[in-house]
This record gives sequence, C-alpha cells and structure tokens, in this order.
Amino acid sequence: MNKLIALVFATLSFVASTPVLAASGGDHGLILQSDANVNDRESLQRGAKYFMNYCLSCHSLKYMRYSRMAEDLGLTEEEVMGSLNFTGTKFGETMTVAMQQADGDKWFGKAAPDLSLTARVKHGGPDWIYSYLKSFYLDPSRPLGWNNLVFPGASMPHVLWELQGTQAAVYESHAAHGPEGTPTGTQVFSHFEPVTAGSLSSKEYDQVARDIAAFLEYVGEPAVLQRKSIGWVVLLFLSLFAFVAWLLKTEYWSDVH
Ligand code: HEC
Repeated sequence: MNKLIALVFATLSFVASTPVLAASGGDHGLILQSDANVNDRESLQRGAKYFMNYCLSCHSLKYMRYSRMAEDLGLTEEEVMGSLNFTGTKFGETMTVAMQQADGDKWFGKAAPDLSLTARVKHGGPDWIYSYLKSFYLDPSRPLGWNNLVFPGASMPHVLWELQGTQAAVYESHAAHGPEGTPTGTQVFSHFEPVTAGSLSSKEYDQVARDIAAFLEYVGEPAVLQRKSIGWVVLLFLSLFAFVAWLLKTEYWSDVH
C-alpha cells in the first residue's frame, strides 16, 4: 500500500514538473504573447492567404483539404481555387507542397516539416509560431545567412524578410564569476536592432505573424471552430430532455396520489 502511494506521488510530481522543465529547456523566456484569435474569421482568412503565398511552397498541411478550409473560413470554391490554391491540386484534396521533399533536403540540409500539428506540439503553441516569425536575424555564420532566436540553427530562411525587413541580434556580455572566483563572461540576448526596413511597419508585421499563428492553430484543430456551436446544441438538447423527463415524472406520479 505504501508503495502504491509512493508511486502515485512520484507520478503526480513528475507530471507537475514536466511543463516547468519544458519551459526552461525550450524557450529561453523569448516567447512573446501573440494574442492570436482562432475565432477571428478575418484573421484566419488573412493567415490562410499568407500561408499559401509564403509557406506552402515548402510546408504541407497534409490533414487539411481546400474544401474544408473554404467551409470553415467562409470562403467560396472560386475564391479558394482562384486566389489561394497555387499548387494545381483539386478543391477536395489536401494541401501538399509543390516542391519535392527530396529537393528540400538538398537545398536546406533538412526537409521542411508538415505543419499540420505544429501549433499543437510546440510548447507555447501559436505564441511560439508568432515569436519564431518575429525572431529571424542576420547571421553570416549560418549557411543561408539567417538564424532564429527561438529556434537556434534553424535551416529555414526568413521568407517574410521583405515584409519585416532585416534585423541583427544584439547581445550583452555579463561578467560573472565561476565557482573559484574566476571571471566567466556570458552572452545574453538583449534586443533586435533593425538593419534594413521592410515594406510593413513593425505593427503591421506583428499582425501578419499573428494571422499566420491563428491560421496554424486552426489547422491543428479545425474542430475548434465547430465545438462552440455544437456546445449550444448539446445544452439545448439537455434542457429539452430534462423538461420532458420532468413532464413524464409529474404525469406518472399524478396517478399515485
Ligand atoms: C524555402 C522553404 C521554406 C519556406 C518557404 C518556409 N519554411 Fe518553414 N521551415 C523550412 C525548413 C527547412 C524547416 C526546418 C528547420 C529545421 O529543422 O532546421 C522549417 C521549419 C519551420 C517551423 C518549425 C517546425 C518544427 O516543427 O520545428 C515552422 C513553425 C515553420 N517552418 C513555419 C513556416 C511558416 C509560417 C512559413 C511561411 C511564412 C514557412 N515556414 C516558410 C523551410 C521553409
């Protein structure tokens, strides 16, 4: 019995500590709050447009069909096929990439992953994606000249640089002292410094990143848009059912008295 209690406690404390470990290991406190809103239909429509234009050339969304997206986001088949589908796939098909994965391997040293579930599996979800899209900086030591603060060493180039502009990461050296009093300098990220301006203001660019983050959150769980309306149907059904049950009860018991 004691063993069982110990086991339960061990499991509980492990579960409780896991998110803390993930937080301290993964994001360095650089994850920004995105305020992405998956219920904002216009934001999702813009996010879809950016994704189709800037991301689908490398990243597939293999669980999402064009027809499903049209229905969920309130778009017509003509709108989707005319201005959102550039890959030549059919309306009822899933969102595959134009580029072959093998080419991706060759060009970037790494294939671009499918992003269907990224907003769900990344710690921070849409906030992570938002921060990632805002954290590319120039780094001549990287093969493509880009690095990313929340994903160090990422092999993806900053595909939105014309919108955001380019920036450099500024680090501060903090003098610290090791265990025996020996000085050990550490480099701590301080801020981004703009290098060249983009076509958008930083506020407008934030909105682009937010729209894409919201769109990928929707893609990760399309049912999230339906759950709300289903909730009301269930509540309505339950209250009707309760009413009928109450009528039946009064009907049965009226004979007993
Ligand atoms: C030129 C090809 C290319 C384009 C275009 C591109 N990416 Fe990427 N992306 C990559 C590659 C390659 C990786 C893998 C990076 C790595 O693992 O080092 C990646 C990784 C990612 C990741 C991290 C995924 C994970 O599971 O770690 C996200 C999120 C992402 N991209 C989002 C986007 C978004 C949003 C766009 C459009 C604005 C975009 N990408 C456009 C090539 C691309």
